[in-house]
Amino acid sequence: MKIVSIIGGTGMLGAPVARALLADGFRVRILTRNIEQARQQLGEGFEFRQADILDVASLTAALEGTDFIHINVSGHDHDSYYQQHVIGTQNVLKALNGAKIECISMISSASAYPEFNDRYDNRFKLEAENLLKASKQPYLVFMPSWFMETMSMFVQKNRLVRIGPSNQPIHWVSAQDYAQHVSKAYQNPACRSQRISIYGPESLTMAEAFSRFAQHHQLKQTHIPAWLAKIIGRLSGDPTLIDVADLTVHYDRTGEKNVPNTLRTTTTLSTWLQQREASL
Ligand SMILES: NC(=O)c1ccc[n+]([C@@H]2O[C@H](COP(=O)([O-])OP(=O)(O)OC[C@H]3O[C@@H](n4cnc5c(N)ncnc54)[C@H](OP(=O)(O)O)[C@@H]3O)[C@@H](O)[C@H]2O)c1
Repeated sequence: MKIVSIIGGTGMLGAPVARALLADGFRVRILTRNIEQARQQLGEGFEFRQADILDVASLTAALEGTDFIHINVSGHDHDSYYQQHVIGTQNVLKALNGAKIECISMISSASAYPEFNDRYDNRFKLEAENLLKASKQPYLVFMPSWFMETMSMFVQKNRLVRIGPSNQPIHWVSAQDYAQHVSKAYQNPACRSQRISIYGPESLTMAEAFSRFAQHHQLKQTHIPAWLAKIIGRLSGDPTLIDVADLTVHYDRTGEKNVPNTLRTTTTLSTWLQQREASL
């Protein structure tokens, strides 16, 4: 059985990948900074190893014998995106010390193009990708659009808070669909050393999607303009809020690229809302 090590396997988008790979017959090793929490969250069937992407020695030990590595890290400001993506990827490659594996993959984003480099997350995701390419390891870079799961992060009590402008259509993706595409790519040895764009089946603006989510869950809706969200973020010391506000403005300017060979997922927002309700 092939071993897949996932850094960030406890993340919102790492956990569905871990579950999909396990269901498809891989041995899945979760590299985490907190094994007890990870075990509680993910349950049985996984292996757990203590590792920090900023600590090469911990990675070297945890990655021993692995066939695949999937990196699912994040960030909330310039320094954290840089540390987790660029330094983190350098560290993973150092830990491998030239040993060849079947594939190393990362979650990037649908906006990771040089022309969108004014946003530091795009810039550092591209830098991480270039490190994978230069390593000569077979690699995969997954470039999903916005995830439907993100919307629940904007629920505050009985209210859904939307931030920033909303003029661009988004092909919303469900995390489960994305995870199945990752697993399929892993199972196909011909699918290596490429960027894979993953878009959902229908396009809805942020306002349209949030409104559907709010109606489904009977939530009130509030809209906060990006400039106000940034001020609130600064006053309350919340870098994530500042980052989200900046991201919505950037996205509203750039939108989604029309990319040939984009993989299309199938779950629509209505289906996802019903599935989510059934699982709660
Ligand atoms: N939301 C969207 O719509 C969207 C769309 C496209 C792309 N993306 C990208 O998807 C990526 C992943 O997002 P997510 O929501 O899954 O993030 P998340 O829920 O915040 O998870 C981050 C993961 O990183 C791990 N981590 C953090 N610091 C670490 C460290 N020092 N060493 C080892 N592991 C560390 C955490 O693991 P432990 O705490 O267990 O150690 C956690 O599992 C982001 O880069 C985001 O930009 C998101």
